[in-house]
Amino acid sequence: MRYRKVLNFNTDWYFLNKDLENAKNIYPGDNKLVRVNLPHSNKIVPHHYFEEKDYQFISWYYREFYVKKYKGKRVIIEFDGVMSVADVYVNGKYVDGHKGGYTSFSFDITDYINFNEENVIAVKVDSTRRIDIPPEGGVVDYMLFGGIYRNVRLVIVENIHISWSFIEVIEANKKSAIIHPKFELINLYNEDKKAIIITKLMDEDNKEVTTKETALIIKTGKNIIKQEQISFLKPELWHPNHPYLYNIYAQVKIGNRICDDSNTKIGMRKLKFKDDGKFYINGESFKLRGLNRHQMFPYLGGAMPDRGQRKDAEILKYGLGLNFVRSSHYPASPSFLDRCDEIGLLVLEEIPGWQYIGDEEWKILAKKNVEEMIIRDRNHASIFLWGVRINESKDDHGFYLDTNRIAHSLDSSRQTCGVRNFQESEFLEDVFTCNDFEYNLEGKLKFPQNIPYMITEYMGHMYPTRSYDSVERIIKHAVYHAKIQNCQYGMHNLAGASGWCAFDYNTHADFGSGDRICYHGVCDIFRLPKFAAYFYKSQMDPEIEKVVFIARYLIPSFNEDYGDEIIVFSNCDEIDLYAGEKYINSAKPDRINYSNLPHPPFIFKNCSWWEWGASNIASLKAIGKINGKEVVQHEIFPFGRPDKLVLKPDYTELIADGADCVRVVIELQDKNSQILHLSHHPVFFEIAGPGKLIAENPFSLEAGKGAVFIQSGREFGEISLKAQVDGLPPIEIIINNMAMQEEIVPVNGNI
Ligand code: GAL
Repeated sequence: MRYRKVLNFNTDWYFLNKDLENAKNIYPGDNKLVRVNLPHSNKIVPHHYFEEKDYQFISWYYREFYVKKYKGKRVIIEFDGVMSVADVYVNGKYVDGHKGGYTSFSFDITDYINFNEENVIAVKVDSTRRIDIPPEGGVVDYMLFGGIYRNVRLVIVENIHISWSFIEVIEANKKSAIIHPKFELINLYNEDKKAIIITKLMDEDNKEVTTKETALIIKTGKNIIKQEQISFLKPELWHPNHPYLYNIYAQVKIGNRICDDSNTKIGMRKLKFKDDGKFYINGESFKLRGLNRHQMFPYLGGAMPDRGQRKDAEILKYGLGLNFVRSSHYPASPSFLDRCDEIGLLVLEEIPGWQYIGDEEWKILAKKNVEEMIIRDRNHASIFLWGVRINESKDDHGFYLDTNRIAHSLDSSRQTCGVRNFQESEFLEDVFTCNDFEYNLEGKLKFPQNIPYMITEYMGHMYPTRSYDSVERIIKHAVYHAKIQNCQYGMHNLAGASGWCAFDYNTHADFGSGDRICYHGVCDIFRLPKFAAYFYKSQMDPEIEKVVFIARYLIPSFNEDYGDEIIVFSNCDEIDLYAGEKYINSAKPDRINYSNLPHPPFIFKNCSWWEWGASNIASLKAIGKINGKEVVQHEIFPFGRPDKLVLKPDYTELIADGADCVRVVIELQDKNSQILHLSHHPVFFEIAGPGKLIAENPFSLEAGKGAVFIQSGREFGEISLKAQVDGLPPIEIIINNMAMQEEIVPVNGNI
């Protein structure tokens, strides 16, 4: 049982999509407003061909609330992200504001509340291009979609409460661990108070491992409390392969009464980049293999609720087999980071910025971003490095001394880096991180210096590739990624490398392919894999999943294709290739051309199937074997006609909070269940029940596939989504919209 009350404040808002004189005093019942729930995008956009102007405007959000039963307590509002400036009013009075769209912030609104009556909160959201706030000022190769696009909650506390906790991991090895709990406590009384802070370390089964009690005086105002260090034996260490999380449950007691408590998930691990260039987890060197991730989603922009944030982490870890992600180029949503902790996906998190450094005021905000990012996120087991430079910016001695100093003072357990694009740049961080595009199309990276070194980007604009590009291009795209990773695995004084990037993303007019998309992903904007995605996945440990993928389509004409070489991405140790029932050949991983990769691709030469009877071939089949035993297979067929439309929802349930969202993947398949990779058929949708379709309707398939989203309504019940392509029978899926369990902030006194 938690003592502190945390209430969901996402539901039942009203939205005004413009600025009006006296907007702060508009009554939410007014018919100028539409009902919305958070996370919310100020504009739903098509997945491409739109402009930043579409969402760059000022809007207002309103919510009535009634908190009579909390009279005598403190009421704090917490926002996880508002793009780009939030100004908060309660009952028409200005409370405070926040600049910057990627960090969380909170305000104590108690003194503005009428506890006996209904209250109205109004938030003015400025989503225009604010050149005074990072990352804006120059050009930016990503979009800053507008709105209150992350969660909001009300937290009910007492006059003495915890504003943050930081459980620093001092030591963690097989024998023992030491943690150092630190808290910021607020005392709003006019006098100092005697208190006890009790910190319980709980294991994953919620069993108490150890407890520490500390008596202290809490002075009026802000107090930074450092408890004594806590040591315990035989910790379960956190590792990407063993993401074990402990919970620190802390209570603050005055006399015998608990007045606040907190839960903090932590992982016992030691992370270190050393001078030999390598990265170590718990004393063992660990090669980092990653991709960059932008948080943008089609249609919804940044406003993807927790479910989709968590799903992204799972796609990166299990769909792409990565062990780390760079949260480019800004702090990620808290729910994405929580999932990374749980599944063991390391995260490099960095401050917002892109090539441009502004004036002194701008730099103050950038430094505040360092502070806000680290205070919010330093308990995450998955975060292994703080990025404290503006991505690819010029040197700025004083500025970057400050960002490093702030980071170290807030977290001495992690190292800093700063992503640059020139080798001569001044090295003020702990780890030299550099984007490296120069020799990518030769499959190479530059050789690092003898310092802690990591490559943070390669590929991207060097070879943009759409899912529906030529077969030759999508194969080459995958091969470049494979060659560069092979190269980095061969550099023993290089900690790792992350490619640009995981998912295609929306961008400004100055970048991309002209339709407001950068097609730099190994997955498309819907997170659906291109061939390169399977290369990454094939580097996974086969203990987790056995992978085999023929990076090829079985099409009849030689000229339309990639010659007579077949590449198979797999983590098996041998592949048998069959044409129909006919055995063709076996291959071992290509350790000559890819001598460093954990799982080199398999190359079959002289496979001119068009000479073996072209369309007579029933299929091409790759059978993956480990220790001589068949463990997995992939079979491709000559393409047939459209046979069925398939809808694949990521989940079959939603929470009826009016914002929860599920991706529904669409595929047009032939009778062998192959996606028809050149189809752009329009798909027509009909939705019924308590849900909303977030999509283009009709949606034109890209490379035979795509995705739409279903967003929950506030009523529970069944949502039906029907889809149809001309000439095929319609199909339907049902999503169960489940009643919310979380306690929400009442709108009025009738609830
Ligand atoms: C890099 C930049 C990324 C992205 C990439 C495209 O220079 O850091 O944000 O624009 O190029 O390849």
